[in-house]
Amino acid sequence: MSEKTHEALVGGQFGSRAEAYLNSAVHAQSPDLDALVTLMKDWPEVRVLDLGCGGGHVTFNVAPLVRGIVAYDLAPEMLALVARAAKERGLDNVTTQQGAVESLPFEDGSFDVVLSRFSAHHWRDLDAGLREAARVVKAGGMVAVVDTVSSGIPLTDTYFQAIELLRDCSHVRNYSRAEWEAAIARAGLIPGSVSPFRLRLDFNSWVERMNTPTLRVEAIRALQTTVSAVAAPINVTSVAVILQCSGRFGGPAIRGLADAGGDEISPGAGRN
Ligand SMILES: C[S@@+](CC[C@H](N)C(=O)[O-])C[C@H]1O[C@@H](n2cnc3c(N)ncnc32)[C@H](O)[C@@H]1O
Repeated sequence: MSEKTHEALVGGQFGSRAEAYLNSAVHAQSPDLDALVTLMKDWPEVRVLDLGCGGGHVTFNVAPLVRGIVAYDLAPEMLALVARAAKERGLDNVTTQQGAVESLPFEDGSFDVVLSRFSAHHWRDLDAGLREAARVVKAGGMVAVVDTVSSGIPLTDTYFQAIELLRDCSHVRNYSRAEWEAAIARAGLIPGSVSPFRLRLDFNSWVERMNTPTLRVEAIRALQTTVSAVAAPINVTSVAVILQCSGRFGGPAIRGLADAGGDEISPGAGRN
């Protein structure tokens, strides 16, 4: 699929569902969001970029703690909503900018911190997005990504990706921890630490949020039933969220996360 087609697909999927993301309980409140905000307490008075801001929940929670934050997304409808909601909340240090993460319209080293939550599994090119994040963050800054993580076990991974794709055709891939670690290394980021979170989703609101057609919802149900049977002996955490912190030259927030119970990443650990 060409890049334009995939970006049009992502923009179409999310643009038409902007309100649903603004109002989504799982996006507005969750332990991973709290952890991200806690991380930012060590970074006052900084300039922040929120990649794939969606309904703006990272932006809204981080804005009161920092000098300024740019909410960045492919979907103009999402950005219009974020701009309006930021104004209503009196957050005058929020600006919005439209574009793809794979090609950021910012100078090298423009930001102290780059954040991204639940967006990277839609990126056409994860490597390009992480390379761009590494380019626009200052030396000594921090890049922190929250995203869904696959078990890396082929049997369950295949079902997981299929279920995600049926629910939302703009899904690209939930990466395994080993794939994340390799991608971070390829982007030239220094690995920091990882904090796992259990992501609990309410099935009905999960499919309603993306307006998944009934036929596909039925197919998801069928796959869930099959995977429960065929993968029953495999002990995997169903869906986890990983908080991945990386700074090119390390940084206090990376240590902060490790202190909070985070698990150090060893470069090239090759774990699936
Ligand atoms: C699930 S929403 C993000 C949720 C939001 N970050 C939060 O914490 O509530 C995913 C967002 O990523 C955006 N997105 C996906 N691929 C993108 C890309 N390549 N460049 C920029 N934004 C992208 C989508 O338009 C969508 O708004």
